[in-house]
Amino acid sequence: MAIKNIGIIGAGIMGSGIAQVSALAGYQVVIQDITGEALDRSKEIIEKSLAKFAGKGKIQESDKDSALGRIHYTTQLEEVCKDADLIIEAIFENLEIKHETFKKIEAFAKPEAILASNTSALPITEIASVTSRGEKFIGLHFMNPVPLMKGLEVIRGQLTSDETFGACWDFAESIGKNPVEAVDFAGFIVSRLLDVLMNEAVKMVQEGNRPEDIDKAMELCAGHPMGPCKLLDLVGAEIAMHGMETMARDFGDGYKPHPLLKKRVLAGLLGRKTGRGFYDYTK
Ligand SMILES: NC(=O)c1ccc[n+]([C@@H]2O[C@H](COP(=O)([O-])OP(=O)(O)OC[C@H]3O[C@@H](n4cnc5c(N)ncnc54)[C@H](O)[C@@H]3O)[C@@H](O)[C@H]2O)c1
Repeated sequence: MAIKNIGIIGAGIMGSGIAQVSALAGYQVVIQDITGEALDRSKEIIEKSLAKFAGKGKIQESDKDSALGRIHYTTQLEEVCKDADLIIEAIFENLEIKHETFKKIEAFAKPEAILASNTSALPITEIASVTSRGEKFIGLHFMNPVPLMKGLEVIRGQLTSDETFGACWDFAESIGKNPVEAVDFAGFIVSRLLDVLMNEAVKMVQEGNRPEDIDKAMELCAGHPMGPCKLLDLVGAEIAMHGMETMARDFGDGYKPHPLLKKRVLAGLLGRKTGRGFYDYTK
């Protein structure tokens, strides 16, 4: 199964990163979002990131230019689906929206196209259930920031074929990632462990700990490269909250998001993407 053309749905932090690494590896990429503003933001993110890599000498200036030339932006779902061999969904972490979107994607996609979700925590089989191609459906859980993180979880749904799994594993390696297989339960491996850690950190803030002390403790005493409050700001508080909700639904109340986490999401304190979380990113 030859993958040449990549379609990406959702041009937020993750979709933009996936577009960047795919184009840099030589794939033709079409990326779609609902609004032109989202696409403008995505273009800016990708250009800045590639310029940074070129500035540090990690890629050639010509690699940057050819990667940028391989990415096409659109607001039309049909356009992103029609020629794609692999379609990766990276829209909001909401099962209903993902279901609605995959029903439409399936109608536009080539019969042989592989459909993938970059969901952080929703079981792949559940997302795939609205399509009639479970054997061609898979989870590709990229990590944030996509251009820097080496790992990538590959998740088989109940019906995912070996051919689909193999093609996606090869794709992951071809874009410079080191894939790891994770079992299809809410949160997989990475979100299951990290969401709980970040939720617990929020609880500790409620109890009176300062975010900078929690981060310092985990960085200096536990060797974590980034403390859980900084990590929550990077991931986005709403992503962790939805992850906890999915796990609470499947594994029990012990996984419920802390009320302060919910309150912070409602207040728009999502982290880097809104400029404010535990830390201020507006300056
Ligand atoms: N942020 C992370 O650290 C992280 C890591 C791994 C996986 N994920 C997962 O990736 C997905 C995207 O997360 P993100 O952080 O990039 O979110 P984001 O909010 O930065 O981007 C989501 C984008 O999807 C677009 N969108 C929403 N509905 C759409 C639709 N119907 N059609 C087309 N575009 C649509 C939005 O306009 C937005 O630009 C989520 O499922 C999330 O759980 C996030």
